[in-house]
Amino acid sequence: MKLTDEEKAILEGSEGLARQKAMDLLVRYGEALGAERLVDTNNVCVSVTAGAYSTKRPELKESDIDASLSRMYLDSDEPFEIPKTKVYTCRLIREMDPEYWEIQGIDPTRHEINLLTEKVCSRIGMQLMHSCTPYLLGNVPVMGEHCAWIESSAVIYCNSVLGGRTNIEGMESATASMLTGKTPYWGYHLNENRLGTHLVEVEYQPESVMDWGLLGYYVGEIVQEHVPVINGVRKVPNIARLKHHGAAAASSGGVEMYHVVGFTPEAHSLEQAFGKNKPAATLKFGKAERREAYDNLTSATDSTVDFIMLGCPHYTLEEVWNAARLLESRRVHSGANLWIFTPRALKTIADQEGLTDIITKAGAVLMTDTCPCISHISPKNVKTAATDSAKHAHYMPAMLGFPTWFGSQQDCIEAAVTGKWRGEI
Ligand code: F3S
Repeated sequence: MKLTDEEKAILEGSEGLARQKAMDLLVRYGEALGAERLVDTNNVCVSVTAGAYSTKRPELKESDIDASLSRMYLDSDEPFEIPKTKVYTCRLIREMDPEYWEIQGIDPTRHEINLLTEKVCSRIGMQLMHSCTPYLLGNVPVMGEHCAWIESSAVIYCNSVLGGRTNIEGMESATASMLTGKTPYWGYHLNENRLGTHLVEVEYQPESVMDWGLLGYYVGEIVQEHVPVINGVRKVPNIARLKHHGAAAASSGGVEMYHVVGFTPEAHSLEQAFGKNKPAATLKFGKAERREAYDNLTSATDSTVDFIMLGCPHYTLEEVWNAARLLESRRVHSGANLWIFTPRALKTIADQEGLTDIITKAGAVLMTDTCPCISHISPKNVKTAATDSAKHAHYMPAMLGFPTWFGSQQDCIEAAVTGKWRGEI
């Protein structure tokens, strides 16, 4: 890999041991990927989770968190204090809600370790967004901006909807980028890799959030790690629709970028979306394909539902507002739990607007900072779950062991209120 003089100096230790280790990790990582060089970034998203540390050590100190980070994230046998971030860095999802951690089943030791980890993240200058949707919180990369983001649903949104450029980074590479302001120049940083590979002709017009989730889930399963170009959409999607669509495609396949002709910024036309590429295959999305995606996503058979999860990826304020409207003057069934997830900053607004109050009075909980699949949290003794997220419907059975229904937000809230699943497509 070709390095600039500045990069060589950091690799030789000019900026201290932590940045030297970070640069060494990026060079090894980049060379393994075939990157010819590094590129500057001033936009890093990473999660620093407490799960990496022993939960049996209530006497843990800040220096222990530093030591774990240097060993596990920066591959150093020699422990060191993590210095300040070199570039703008957002901390994404973490392991618990700051207010409802006991309801989530987090034990006091794990809670303490989480607080200590947050203290370290704050000390080094990370932006404590605590969400998988940094783009809802003001981190909105501009067209062509090079980023180093973890979290597949955020990455696909960044690449596809915003025109930012990032691969799905790991904790280690993103931490190294945070300390150096560099990331390997490969994958979705390069123009040619952002061109479409598969054409998807839409015969069933996606309108609802659920439709967009099903479309993403269907397409992702077929194209896997390629770049689908969705053609024929007539109605403008919104943030929630594209958020769910990308999260679904990244779950059933490994899609990191898609185009919707006429709506996403690198696909004003089919010609622009494909550039020099010829489609490797043409798919259609009609009624039968929509049904197939729905059936593949549905793992539950028992209509009695006891856990309803909303907010994957974390809900927009519009989604929280709509959930509150559906719950107003109603009550969650005594045998059911309704957990709704949104970024903490948006919950502050929901608090001010009275939305949190409506949700709480209905017996649901508006949570922040985390989610069931990332933290393996859930109410006790769940038998059957339901969600409006194709991503969570995909992961919940495998990661938490619950058969899961997939449906619209309205289906899910009706299930929460009645304790019965009656959703359909
Ligand atoms: Fe976010 Fe958790 Fe879903 S990190 S995308 S709410 S699985």
